[in-house]
Amino acid sequence: MYNIAIDGPAGAGKSSIAKALSKKLGFIYIDTGAMYRAVALFFLENGIKDSSDNEIDKLLDELDINIKYTDGEQRVFLNNVDVSDKLRQEEIGKLASRFSALKSVREKLVALQRKLTKKENVIMDGRDIGTVVLPNADLKIYLSAGSKVRAKRRYLELIEKGFDSAALDEKAIENEIIKRDEADMNREISPLKKAEDAYYMDTSDMTFDEVVSKILDMVEKER
Ligand code: DC
Repeated sequence: MYNIAIDGPAGAGKSSIAKALSKKLGFIYIDTGAMYRAVALFFLENGIKDSSDNEIDKLLDELDINIKYTDGEQRVFLNNVDVSDKLRQEEIGKLASRFSALKSVREKLVALQRKLTKKENVIMDGRDIGTVVLPNADLKIYLSAGSKVRAKRRYLELIEKGFDSAALDEKAIENEIIKRDEADMNREISPLKKAEDAYYMDTSDMTFDEVVSKILDMVEKER
């Protein structure tokens, strides 16, 4: 099996890069952020908004989270219901960051993530893939870009999705990104950081295609 780990801060383009790479390489793409988002959605639907709620561990026992693939796209199932289309909202991302600091949440998801790598070549993205989930990954990349660039990319992505540009504030998007990174980098368990043996890639001045082909070159050299 050949495994690629991609980590990095919010809005660095990890998911779209990893998805493009998985198509070119014929690997399975595993978006671990979507799993944390699904857990956040589950808590939200059960009326839990705070990570100190006593009900959390009990609810986690009732949670069956699974992923399946439809036309190569990852779909996330919560207790057998496909919730994939509900996960991209900013509010869910924020809650995912908050709940992802909990040990019980991380243990459950890391076990599932590792199980998914047993049978096929995978490319997995997240915050702790190279450091915790797949410390023996064959190739590790830490993908980053300046917060302004990341905010601009997210802004353009939202416009492409049909959001009204007048309702979007780039500075506010950047502030949200900075806040989320701070929380993810400073939590106690499995904080976001570059694995020692990961390649650091600053994509601020690179196009999407340049990033993809640079990583493909690395895979070719290392494989
Ligand atoms: O990549 P994303 O925006 O979908 O991730 C949402 C949140 O989930 C992120 O802010 C932190 C958390 N997360 C994590 O702690 N570990 C991962 N491997 C992936 C995501």
